[in-house]
Amino acid sequence: MTDVMTDVLTDHPASGSLASPSDDATGPGAGDAPRPADALADELFTAALSSLELATVHLGLTLGLYAGLRDHGPCAPAELAHHTALDERYVREWLEQQAMAQLVTCLDPDTDPAARRYALPPAAVSALLDETDPAYLGPLAHLAVGALLAVRDVERVYRDGTGVPFDRYGAEVRHGLGRLNGASFDRSLVDWIAAMPDVEEVLRTGARPRILDLGCGTGRSALAMARAYPRAEVRGVDLDVASVEEARRAAAEAGLADRVTFSVGDAADLGPDGSYHLVTILEALHDMGDPVGALRAARHRLADGGAVLVADQLTRDRFVPDGDPLERFQYGCSVLHCLPATRAEDHVVAHGTVIRPGTVDAWARDAGFAGAAILDVEDPFWRFYRL
Ligand SMILES: C[S@@+](CC[C@H](N)C(=O)[O-])C[C@H]1O[C@@H](n2cnc3c(N)ncnc32)[C@H](O)[C@@H]1O
Repeated sequence: MTDVMTDVLTDHPASGSLASPSDDATGPGAGDAPRPADALADELFTAALSSLELATVHLGLTLGLYAGLRDHGPCAPAELAHHTALDERYVREWLEQQAMAQLVTCLDPDTDPAARRYALPPAAVSALLDETDPAYLGPLAHLAVGALLAVRDVERVYRDGTGVPFDRYGAEVRHGLGRLNGASFDRSLVDWIAAMPDVEEVLRTGARPRILDLGCGTGRSALAMARAYPRAEVRGVDLDVASVEEARRAAAEAGLADRVTFSVGDAADLGPDGSYHLVTILEALHDMGDPVGALRAARHRLADGGAVLVADQLTRDRFVPDGDPLERFQYGCSVLHCLPATRAEDHVVAHGTVIRPGTVDAWARDAGFAGAAILDVEDPFWRFYRL
């Protein structure tokens, strides 16, 4: 163990949480200023810890361990293994690790390991399992694991300049995005649309309002809009075949397949139509290989008075490399996923995740709109534009 790690472990006995790296060791009042290399090593150690723990969160979600604890806890390892149909020894190790990471509570740590009982605290239920809670971010674990699983392909494309197709990131990224964004669509999509009262009025009161969702993924936004506007007909388009198949299944299961349809296609290739009252592009514009073409196609699909709603990353106006956590997160996604996936398309532009308002506005103008107006909507991750 290095001196730096010893310091980290001594200074931060509970640094095993998923919190961002602490700046206690480098901040004012920390005594002698540590060497910059020590501070960096501290950050790397904390990042490694977080990566490992995020993968164990992924396991806890996909294997039903958290849900089992919520539904049957407090549980000893054998009970949880029984309820989840998993191997007891692995479940015990996972429980001890989760307790060490303070994600799960061990009620009787001094008891025999096989007899210890564990419970899921309410905060973990909110953040990991409850889609209706604004703190729900559990699916980030699937996203991160999916991005990391493709890292060998990413290494290859850095050398050969090609791309990593979206489907190569598998169910982890597809479901991570679907669940994470799906929860915010269920909670807030209607409020975002309400920032365009004229459009909302048509969706609520029109005889048969039409909505087109470009880059619809697994269909959660299309379904949320169909539920909110019972007269509306919603069509989703996405390049990813597996996403569209899941979206179709979800529409059928929700009993909405008569009003909500999905097709595989490139948003930029859609022909003119002129019948849609709303076109949405929700966290997908920066992923599109021809974003101006997609916006132009969206414009040609609008009925009179219709509008395009773009939701994309909340960024600063310009590149300021100051360690801002949100932009760090976006760049992480970009390096490992968004840029390689966009470059796998027959792309005109491969922009990457960090899309700034000036870029969206310039693309909107190139596509024939007057510009991209920023809507007055608060969100911790996204900015909203009306075109
Ligand atoms: C970050 S995901 C967002 C998916 C969905 N809107 C959501 O918020 O859950 C971006 C989506 O854009 C899709 N996409 C990328 N390029 C596309 C293109 N040229 N045309 C249509 N969809 C595209 C991807 O397949 C992916 O499903």
